[in-house]
Order: sequence, then C-alpha cells, then structure tokens
Amino acid sequence: MQNLAPLKLGVLGSGKGSNFVAIAQAIQAGKINAQVQIVLSDVEDAGILEHARALGLRAEFIAPGRFRTKLEPQAEERVVELLREAGVELVVLAGYMRMIKAPLLEAFPSRIINIHPSLLPRFPGLESWKQALEAGACTTGCTVHYVDGGMDTGPVIAQSEVPVLPGDTAATLHARIQVAEHALFPEVIAKLAAPRRG
Ligand code: GRF
Repeated sequence: MQNLAPLKLGVLGSGKGSNFVAIAQAIQAGKINAQVQIVLSDVEDAGILEHARALGLRAEFIAPGRFRTKLEPQAEERVVELLREAGVELVVLAGYMRMIKAPLLEAFPSRIINIHPSLLPRFPGLESWKQALEAGACTTGCTVHYVDGGMDTGPVIAQSEVPVLPGDTAATLHARIQVAEHALFPEVIAKLAAPRRG
C-alpha cells in the first residue's frame, strides 16, 4: 500500500542553521515529501532556532548540562521525549555539535542522520575543512551518514566532492563545502522520504 504521508522530521542543530534552511526550502518547494515537526538546539541563541520560529515551527532550547561534548543524560532523555511527542520518524542532525548517546540512539535506531563537512572517513571531528587544508588535500567535500555511537563513524549514505583551490583559506573552503552540503542534504532526505510515495 502506498504511503503518501510526509516523513516527519526532527532537526537538531547548534549553529546558524543554513543546512536547516536548505532543507526547509526544499520541503516548501515540494522537492521532499517531509515535514519538520520540531527543531531543537543546545545553544539558546542559535540561528537555527530563529530560522525555525520565523517559519512558524516549534523550536526549543535544550539546556545541555555540565558536559561540553554531549548532553546531560536527562537533557538527552528530554530530547527523546520531545521528538516522540512530535511524532518524529527521522532525526536530522544539521550542524549539531555534540555526540549522540544511548537515550537518543536507542530511541531512534538507524533513524538519525548527520551531515559532516569532509569525505568521511577522512577528517572526522571538528573543523574538517581546516584539517583538509593542513593535510594538503586536493579535494574534500561533505558526507551524509547514519549516526552511531562513534564520532562521525556511522554508515555513509551519500557524499559530494568539493575541490580545494589554490589560495583557499579555511573560510573560503568551508563556504564552498557548505554550498555542496545545501544540495546534498535535501537530496538525501528526499530519497529517504521517497519510498513513501509508493
Ligand atoms: C556544517 O558545515 C556541518 O557540516 C557541520 O556544521 C555546520 C553547520 O552549519 N556539522 P549550519 O548551522 O547548517 O549553517
């Protein structure tokens, strides 16, 4: 039987939210059979929350607690509760800067995806564009992958290559990678949502 219902997304982000905007615009343009149910951030003044509110979406700050690289377990349990209440089927990490731990991993097995600014498995972790420059790489790119308990280690879904150009700075290379991200992430989500069209 065909399932025409839009895939229900929950988006987590810590930053300016340009990937979220690209996804929201692709949904509005009818390119993805999905809807954003809720946007959550561990950063109270994150741009992603402002963008979500401007679109009339539910957007909430989650106080992260005492750790820098992960949420306090209660905070992550609260995230799970909010995602479940919102009926979320796929969790989208769009610039979310903390590790995902058991509460969320166990609540959404194989249903959490992340965008990372390198061609994984090269340059996992922070500021991958700087890592690419420092390594003298000729190409880098971005990767959408399923999230597991490791750092940028889950199964790769899709990648997009980006050249490193002579004279590139960290800023120019990151900007070029972000252009690729804004195309790749919506494409992947569209494909994950597509089987629902039957
Ligand atoms: C992106 O470069 C993404 O790959 C990384 O964090 C950045 C988020 O940017 N994980 P934005 O908040 O979507 O603009």
